[in-house]
Amino acid sequence: MTKPDSLQRIRQATHFLREQIAMTGKPLPRIAVVLGSGLGEFADSLETSCVVDYTEIPHFPRPTVTGHAGRLLVGTIRGVPVIVLQGRVHAYEGYSPEEVVFPIRVLGGLGITQLILTNAAGSLSHQLAQGSLVAISDHINLTGTNPCTGVHDPQLGPQFFDMTHAYSRRLRQLALRTAFEQGWTMQEGIYLGVSGPSFETPAEIRFFRTIGADLVGMSTVQEVIAARHIGLEVLAISCVTNLAAGLTEAELNHAEVLETGQQTAHRLGPLLTSLVPSIATL
Ligand code: HPA
Repeated sequence: MTKPDSLQRIRQATHFLREQIAMTGKPLPRIAVVLGSGLGEFADSLETSCVVDYTEIPHFPRPTVTGHAGRLLVGTIRGVPVIVLQGRVHAYEGYSPEEVVFPIRVLGGLGITQLILTNAAGSLSHQLAQGSLVAISDHINLTGTNPCTGVHDPQLGPQFFDMTHAYSRRLRQLALRTAFEQGWTMQEGIYLGVSGPSFETPAEIRFFRTIGADLVGMSTVQEVIAARHIGLEVLAISCVTNLAAGLTEAELNHAEVLETGQQTAHRLGPLLTSLVPSIATL
């Protein structure tokens, strides 16, 4: 829920980071990448000029879950400035929707125009295999919340805003083309967001399939809503860490999510390394 002092807290965090970035002598990045569960490895390939622990940034929420480092990196990929958020927070950790999207609003304050989100997700279809990367084409928000509820502050963004093109078609097409050039086919899918932390029941998964979802996960939808609220162009990529409950007899666990996430690094890393400079030329 948006509170009266939301803007002030966003500005304080933004101001702090602007100063940190100014000290590197590099321009403010226009592109940011958020790395999800077990997907932090890509950050190692960055030419890093500045690392800030989330604990140092005013009001920044701190991840409490294994697989989320909680560091903001400023650097370049093939000469293109980029901010990488290594780890995010989720509603299941006890964070409010507003806290979940705080980093996105700060990125907006820093002048980011294009946002790449990555996440771990369960697949609702045998066509989207474990270990594959899927470009999100749309979402269904079943978290029961929205980060933009509350007292309307026009300085934060419009009260009502469109979600028709929440996931940028041109960024998605660029991602699909980049994957193809790298020798693999990236599929597209609709992501359904839940609050967790329990994985779903097989009955819930059957319901989610019926209403048109291809992927299920515990992040991203709030961030995309907040990003669209402030006009950021969004690309989101899911790493399929498991087949969702009931698609196999196997029970689900977080260790498998992290392990499979790490196994996709060999594709996610080169994909992002190529995508960021391409996006910069758009
Ligand atoms: N369900 C919800 N969230 C997830 C899953 C899942 O099966 N896998 C990774 N994140």
